[in-house]
Amino acid sequence: MLGCKQIGKKAKGIVARDKKVISPSLTREYPLVIDKAEDVWIWDVDGNKYLDFSSLIAVMNIGHSNPYVIKAIQKQLKKATHAAFSDFYAELPVTFAEQIVSVLPRGFDRVFFSNSGTEAVEAALKLSRWNKRKPYFVSFINSFHGRTMGSLSLTYSKPVHREGFGPFLSVRHVPYAYPYRMGSECTTMCLNELEKALYKGDVSAVFMEPIQGEGGYIVPPKEFVKGIRKLCDEYDVLMVDDEIQAGCFRTGKFLAIEHFNVKPDIICLGKAIGGGLPIGVTVASKKLMRWPHGAHANTFGGNLLSCAAGMETLKQLKRVGKSVVKKGRYIMRRLDEMKDHYSIIGDVRGKGLMIGVELVKDKRTKKPAIEEREQILWRSFFKGLILLPAGRSTIRIIPPLTITIEHIDRGMDIIEDAVKSVSR
Ligand SMILES: Cc1ncc(COP(=O)(O)O)c(C=O)c1O
Repeated sequence: MLGCKQIGKKAKGIVARDKKVISPSLTREYPLVIDKAEDVWIWDVDGNKYLDFSSLIAVMNIGHSNPYVIKAIQKQLKKATHAAFSDFYAELPVTFAEQIVSVLPRGFDRVFFSNSGTEAVEAALKLSRWNKRKPYFVSFINSFHGRTMGSLSLTYSKPVHREGFGPFLSVRHVPYAYPYRMGSECTTMCLNELEKALYKGDVSAVFMEPIQGEGGYIVPPKEFVKGIRKLCDEYDVLMVDDEIQAGCFRTGKFLAIEHFNVKPDIICLGKAIGGGLPIGVTVASKKLMRWPHGAHANTFGGNLLSCAAGMETLKQLKRVGKSVVKKGRYIMRRLDEMKDHYSIIGDVRGKGLMIGVELVKDKRTKKPAIEEREQILWRSFFKGLILLPAGRSTIRIIPPLTITIEHIDRGMDIIEDAVKSVSR
């Protein structure tokens, strides 16, 4: 049986201990206390079983406890875990870098390893500033690029991320094309705003997500992404593509930006590329990545366990990546049918298995259905489905790419039940 009738005894105890010792700044939605996980399934500490439609924040694209990844980690564990790759050499990170380069568009031939998405973005900030020497950066409203001070300066999705943390790096935030809320003129309007932010010639780089994640799973029109590229070329500004959430075949292609036929200057990867171990990857051309000895480095980048896991993950990603488009279409069809039935579903959008369902109180006013979204997340949790929110009233549907149609149906039935119960 999936889910639980009420929060289990062990889970309650751990949550109570957590409250006494862990920083309250974390973003828990409901009390799932994880014990173990396998493929698309998660078990909590009380033995309840859940279907995972979150990939635990877009990380477990190849499924939990992938046996090939476990084997690769175990093999490396017996040899060495850490090589201080900034100070010494090791073959594994070099081979992994070669493999990453081989799945990227031509010209991306230099790799910098770190330990998280935010560090991949920090490296991109420094690399673009070092190359262009201009004081400003540009990022988009609703964007999320991380929470360390540099990446936080770019992030602009929720006030709580920024309140009390200024002053920030010099960043101009401009609107991101959001067809559902801005209408068909959004591309022109947003590109005009971007041009205003660039025309003084004081910007080093524009940071963008090819599909906004945390900000609400917003899929921009193709012309918007192409327009960003064009303006970056016109004003001699670098274009940084943050693929930390949307990359790694989540959308059916290795990079989400490939759907828009646009080639950025710098690519940031994280989350799924480590197959569950921490890693950040920043990739650029050898022409851009020519900063000198000591200009940027770290202790754990190129960690041997993360690279062993990442290499096997990349192999598995190539295999499961092929099925993503078909599965995504199947989910979108079900959601489109639901949209016709339930007035609370305002918009359904996505690419591959990166899908957002935006909930509204009324299809005409589009007022965000914030409380209803909360209720749907909780109801789904009790029925055995793990979902995450995005933006003000959107639900993310991002299962492991290994999910089957049968399990998709099981999860969609739970979502439909929850939507029905909060619909008037
Ligand atoms: C698009 C994007 N960039 C950067 C980050 C930051 O990654 P991390 O939490 O690993 O620092 C995230 C995390 O959600 C993200 O979605």
